[in-house]
Amino acid sequence: MSLIGVLGGGQLGRMLALAGVPLGLRFRFFDPSPDAPAAALGQHVCAPYDDIASLTRFTDGLDVATYEFECVPTPTAAFVNGRGRLFPSPLALGVTQDRLVEKQFIRRLGLHTAAFAAVDDGDHLASVLVSVGLPAVMKRRRHGYDGRGQMVVRTAAEAEHAWVALGRQPVVVEGFVPFDRELSLVIVRGRSGETRAYPLVENHHRDGVLHWSLAPAPAIPAALQAEAELAAGCILNALDYTGVLTVEFFEHRGRLLVNEIAPRVHNSGHWTIEGAETSQFENHLRAILGLPLGSTAAIGCSILHNIIGALPDTATILAQPHTYLHVYGKAPRPGRKLGHVTTRVAEARDIGSRLLHMQRLFKTGSVRHDAARVRRAEEERAHTAAPADIGGAP
Ligand SMILES: Nc1ncnc2c1ncn2[C@@H]1O[C@H](COP(=O)(O)OP(=O)(O)O)[C@@H](O)[C@H]1O
Ligand SMILES: [Mg+2]
Repeated sequence: MSLIGVLGGGQLGRMLALAGVPLGLRFRFFDPSPDAPAAALGQHVCAPYDDIASLTRFTDGLDVATYEFECVPTPTAAFVNGRGRLFPSPLALGVTQDRLVEKQFIRRLGLHTAAFAAVDDGDHLASVLVSVGLPAVMKRRRHGYDGRGQMVVRTAAEAEHAWVALGRQPVVVEGFVPFDRELSLVIVRGRSGETRAYPLVENHHRDGVLHWSLAPAPAIPAALQAEAELAAGCILNALDYTGVLTVEFFEHRGRLLVNEIAPRVHNSGHWTIEGAETSQFENHLRAILGLPLGSTAAIGCSILHNIIGALPDTATILAQPHTYLHVYGKAPRPGRKLGHVTTRVAEARDIGSRLLHMQRLFKTGSVRHDAARVRRAEEERAHTAAPADIGGAP
């Protein structure tokens, strides 16, 4: 029975274990939080990421290790890799932890991104805005997620305010992309180099947080799927990657721009649990263990809804046909991802009516989420007449 070590014990770790236990795998999680959602499904080493004695205990007897979020400190990843095998490699972490390094890496591969430039001190902000253009999105280089640590700015004055509101920390300034839609590609590469991609997914964010997705994304020409797979394949090869990787794209005038990459299973791939032949979680485990990869074909069409801020009524959700509820075991908090619901339909033509129906059910959750957004925006704008938070139209 292989023992898998997972750095991080959030919902992604929990769903990895839910996929791996039927394969006879055991799990050990490293997470500083005593309330880590994955702890219910395996051993839990609860310690800070720089606690060498605990990391040693964590790595003892592991067959293989992985990580489920990209903020694992790189020295921690290097330590675990030195005592065993860590997949994906620490290199993938290093590249994706810093938005500037990530974008430069993507550009070096010849892939398209929004215009961008780095700002390390406020003095250069004005000249960078001239080169990137307005409106723009200012993003902290590190530790941003779910739209946190970034703001849309429409004028130079707003950018000055954003620089202060974001804590005068190094940022990437990106041109605002008036995209037609957001797409993501979840792809897996095995230890032998074999790769398999899931169909592109269409993602709908609200204030930088993923709210719902359609999988497979409707109306994707074969050439666009191929373009996405080619781009992702370049990234996988450049990183000599093993495991699941996700690439977020903006579709803009028929072209794909890479927004960001995640070296892990991804929220926009949760539909694969019931909506694909093999889930992203199982395929990640197969990849890091050197096992054959499973089919990434979709079964019908899926609608994925995130549960944000407050849990819906369980009975109401379970009364829906072909609908699957996942609750992560996290304490409810405004703006927090607490779970997700996947609804499957047999035919693409049935998506519209199911989507409408499910969105009605989620209305209460959305209202609460809006309250959370307002509060978060207020926090970020403290002490400053602030520019618009991400998600506002430019
Ligand atoms: N340059 C941009 N132009 C337009 N929208 C953007 C841009 N950058 C980010 N966004 C919006 O904000 C969301 C979150 O930004 P992203 O860079 O993916 O950061 P996070 O790490 O928080 O997911 C995106 O999914 C998109 O909706
Ligand atoms: Mg993103």
